[in-house]
Amino acid sequence: MSSGLLEAGLSPEALGFHRALASLQEELEAIDYYHQRMDATADEPLKAILIHNRNDEMEHAAMLLEWLRRNRPEFDVQLRKFLFTSGELTALAKGLEPPPAPGNGLGLGRLT
Ligand SMILES: [Fe+2]
Repeated sequence: MSSGLLEAGLSPEALGFHRALASLQEELEAIDYYHQRMDATADEPLKAILIHNRNDEMEHAAMLLEWLRRNRPEFDVQLRKFLFTSGELTALAKGLEPPPAPGNGLGLGRLT
């Protein structure tokens, strides 16, 4: 996804957005690679390493998602709509499910 040609002429904001998206794509691909290799191996010590590495990539992906949420209001809206919910996702998309309660994300409301 990342290329010098694509990045030429972009605003600093667009360049940062592009770099975060490209990095997220690479982290998601790494998760998939490690997961496939973990699934395929019968070597238990190797499987443990691959699981560890896959989970590290999940951390990296989550950090990038949070950066996108903090820097792109559109991501913030969508992530707040869907993450940490338990309703039917397509119903949430159509606005048929109530939005998550404000507060700690556990449906308990504000604790203060
Ligand atoms: Fe990574």
